[in-house]
Amino acid sequence: MTGAAGFIGGWVVRNLLDKGYRVRACVRDTEDPERTEFLRAMPGHVSGRLTLHAADLDDAGCFDDIFAGCHGVCHVSHVTDYNDADYVRRVCDHIIGSINDSGTVSRVIVTSSIAAILTEGDIHELVRRPVLYEDRNPDENSPKRTPERGHGYAIGKLIAQRAFSDAAAEHGGWDAITVCPADNVGPIQSKHQKNMGPWQHIIEGMLTGSYPQTGAYRPWMTVDVRDDAECHVRLLSSTAVRNGERYIAWSTDTRNVEDVCASIDRLLPELRHDAPEVTDDFPDHVKAREAELRAIWAGCELRNDRVRAATGVEFRDLDASIRDCVESLLSIGAVVPRQKA
Ligand SMILES: NC(=O)c1ccc[n+]([C@@H]2O[C@H](COP(=O)([O-])OP(=O)(O)OC[C@H]3O[C@@H](n4cnc5c(N)ncnc54)[C@H](OP(=O)(O)O)[C@@H]3O)[C@@H](O)[C@H]2O)c1
Repeated sequence: MTGAAGFIGGWVVRNLLDKGYRVRACVRDTEDPERTEFLRAMPGHVSGRLTLHAADLDDAGCFDDIFAGCHGVCHVSHVTDYNDADYVRRVCDHIIGSINDSGTVSRVIVTSSIAAILTEGDIHELVRRPVLYEDRNPDENSPKRTPERGHGYAIGKLIAQRAFSDAAAEHGGWDAITVCPADNVGPIQSKHQKNMGPWQHIIEGMLTGSYPQTGAYRPWMTVDVRDDAECHVRLLSSTAVRNGERYIAWSTDTRNVEDVCASIDRLLPELRHDAPEVTDDFPDHVKAREAELRAIWAGCELRNDRVRAATGVEFRDLDASIRDCVESLLSIGAVVPRQKA
C-alpha cells in the first residue's frame, strides 16, 4: 500500500494486520525514524508479516518489485502536486503500470475524497443538488472550477478515480474501487502525524490556543480515521462491489468548527482546557456571506447508506473521535494544552 506512514494509511496498515493480512507498506524514506518507527513497532513487523519499502510515486516503475505477488493494492497516499493534471495522470500511470505488470493484483482501492463529490465552483450548485451521495459529481463545466481557484485537489481526485477504473476495465484482470473519505478525526499513531491532517492538526491548534474558521463556514463532515480504514479494508476484500464504484466514508455527523472546540472541555473536563475564541480570517466578502453559506451547508443531506450496505461498517460518533484524537495528541504528540487557571 502507498502512503503507509500517513494518518489514514497507518490505520489501514494496522487494520490489515489485525485481520491477518501480509502487508507491504510503502513510504518514501524507510530510514526516517520519525515517520516509520510506529510501523516497525507494530507486532506484524517483528514476525515479518509487515515489511517496509521505499517508493516515490514520482518514479516510474518504483512499485514493480513491490506489487509483484500482491493480491490487493491500497493507494492511499497523496501526490506531490494536485494542481498539475498531467502530472496526476502520469503518477496514476506509474502505479497502473506496476499493477498490470504484477500479474497478481486483482483489487485496487483508490483513496479519493469527499472533495470529488461536493467541492463546487459555484456553491449554489449545492442548493440545486443538495443530496451528497456516491453518484453526485461537482459541476465539472463550471468556469470557476480551476486549480487557480483552489479546485486542483477535487479535480485531481476525479482524474485518479477515472484513470484507475478505466485502466482496470481495459485490463480485465483487476478492478478499482474508490473510497471518498470525509474529514478524518481520531487518534494519531505517531508524533509526526499531528502536523498532517488537516483535522487533527486543527485540533492541536485548538488545544494550544488558536483555531480559525474552516472551509467557508462548512461544518466538519466527519469520519473516524479507524472507521475509514475499516471501509478501505472491507472494500478491498468485498465480493459485492464492482469496478468503477465509489463509496463515501463518513458517519454523516457534522459539527461547526467552534462546536468541535467546545466539545473538548465537555468530553474531557479533567483536562481543564481553556478554549480559545475562533478567529475568522476570511476576506470581508466571504464574511459578509456567513449566514447564507451556513444555510447552504445546513441544507445538504449526507448519505452513507451505500457504504454501510456494502461493508457493514458501523461508524463511531464524532465525540469518540474527538476524545481519542485529543488524548493521542497529548500522549503521542506531546502537545501541551492551554489550561484554565
Ligand atoms: N485526512 C483527511 O481528512 C482526508 C480526507 C479525505 C481524503 N483524504 C485522502 O486520504 C489520503 C491520505 O490522507 P492522510 O490525511 O492520511 O495524509 P497524510 O497523513 O498527509 O499522509 C499522506 C502520505 O502520502 C505520502 N506521499 C505524499 N507524496 C508522495 C509521493 N510523491 N510518493 C509517495 N508517497 C507520497 C506521504 O508519504 P511519506 O510519509 O512516505 O512521505 C504521506 O505519508 C490522501 O489521498 C488524501 O487526499 C484524506
